[in-house]
Parts: sequence; structure tokens; C-alpha cells
Amino acid sequence: MTTQQRTAEVLGDIFAAVNERIVKHSVTYEEYQSAKDWLIRIGEAGEWPLFLDVFFEHTVENLASQRRSGSTGCIEGPYYVPGARQLDSPCTLPQRPDEPGEKLVFSGTVRDLDGTPLPGSIVDIWQADAYGYYSHFHPDPPDGNLRANVRTDEHGRFEITTVLPAPYEIPKEGPTGAMIIAAGWHHWRPAHLHMMVRAPGKRPLTSQLFFAGGNYLDDDVAGAVKPELILRLDRLDGQDGQDGQDGQDGLDGHYAAGYDFRLDPV
Ligand code: DHB
Ligand code: FE
Repeated sequence: MTTQQRTAEVLGDIFAAVNERIVKHSVTYEEYQSAKDWLIRIGEAGEWPLFLDVFFEHTVENLASQRRSGSTGCIEGPYYVPGARQLDSPCTLPQRPDEPGEKLVFSGTVRDLDGTPLPGSIVDIWQADAYGYYSHFHPDPPDGNLRANVRTDEHGRFEITTVLPAPYEIPKEGPTGAMIIAAGWHHWRPAHLHMMVRAPGKRPLTSQLFFAGGNYLDDDVAGAVKPELILRLDRLDGQDGQDGQDGQDGLDGHYAAGYDFRLDPV
């Protein structure tokens, strides 16, 4: 638990910093009032998780990752839902019969710090669909869509068939989106997969993986991209140029990406 001393130190310091910046920018009463109204609207719109996770979580996460030796982590963001369906690897993420998007096979191994594979570990994965929408939070995808707890096989391997997510755009209608417009910033995060990786006796790892060549990798509104989390996307279809007939082999837009997770001990 945080002690009273630390609470006073940290909060006192943050408040002093905010007050200094108010002076630095000669903030007016009108600006103070509109900031206050805006903060109230953030609460009314239920956007505290979204706002905080975009603008501040990355700093807390970077500090937490410095305390790990295994794979680096990444922000959780506001869209995790516990209790997703349990599947054994290899598997296909729950999806609509006509799930839009290009097929992606995401595979790898979960290991400990020595490199020993961890059979029966869990890759709890969630992602946006090919329009950038998350199930449970956006109207379209049904509950559970593109979410699962995937159990690694006897070699600690996972192979998850899914679709490539699209970049995610912070909703423009809400107060967070309105603030971004007011500041002339953009609303985008690069396309990403989210995961929590768990194994008995290991520290859970919350991370995200991004795709090389995608948009907004250098300009994530949430400031969460790390170079070591950017995956190469291998295109598996049409490589030999033999089939010629686009769309005839059912493999159009078939990609593969790989990543090995290394978990710290508890
Ligand atoms: C937000 C959304 C995400 O998909 C994410 O990964 C991080 C943050 C957000 O809207 O706050
Ligand atoms: Fe996300």
C-alpha cells in the first residue's frame, strides 16, 4: 500500500507542477472554467479510462518495464475484458462467419528467462477488427469477437489464426476526441494486437505488438510503440507467382507474424 508520506510527496509534486504550468502559460479564468467543464464531461461520458490510458499509461508502463528482464511490456489500454473463451493452440480467434479483413497467423513460443519453453501458459489476446472496432466497446463486433485465452501446446508454442486489425481511432464524438481536435492533434493509434501472457510462477506480461510498415508507428497518439514490439509481416500468398489468379486459391491477404515471449519469475 502507498504510505501517507508517499501520497503527500507524489500528489504534492504533481499539483505543484500543474500550478507552475498554469503560471507559465498565464491560464485565464475562462480557460480554467472550460477545463473544469471538460473534466466533468470526461466523467459523464465514461472516458476516464480512455483519456488516462492514451495520455499517461505509457509513462507508468515504461517505468514498470524497466523493472523486468524478460520481454518488454506495453500499455493495457481501456479495452481488456477478462474471462474470454479458452482455446488450445493452434486455434482461430472467435469471429463472425464473414469477419472482414485479411487473414493473419500469429505464432511463437512462451519461454522463461533461460529460454525454456512454458507449455500450458496462456496468451490472453484481444484486438480490434479490420475497421478498428473492439468487441464489448463498439456496437458492431459481437461480445467475445477476436478475444481468447489461448493455451500453449506441449512445446510452449501458440499459433493463432485471426485477421489483421486496422489502426484504431479515438472516438471523435466524446470529450477526449473533442480535446484532440481543439489541439489540432490526430486521433490514431497504429494497428496492434493486445495480449496478457500468464504462466504459473511467472510474472504476467501485458503487451502489444505492432506491424512493420503500418501507419502511425512513429506517431501513436498513445505514445506506446517500442521498436522491439514491431513485427515483420510475412505475406504467405502468391509468393511463387505461380497461381496468377488473384483470389482463386483462397489465400489472398494471408499474412504471418511471429514473436516469442519471455516471462520473468514472480
Ligand atoms: C486506447 C485504445 C486502445 O486500443 C489502446 O490500445 C490504448 C488506448 C484508448 O482509446 O485510450
Ligand atoms: Fe488497443
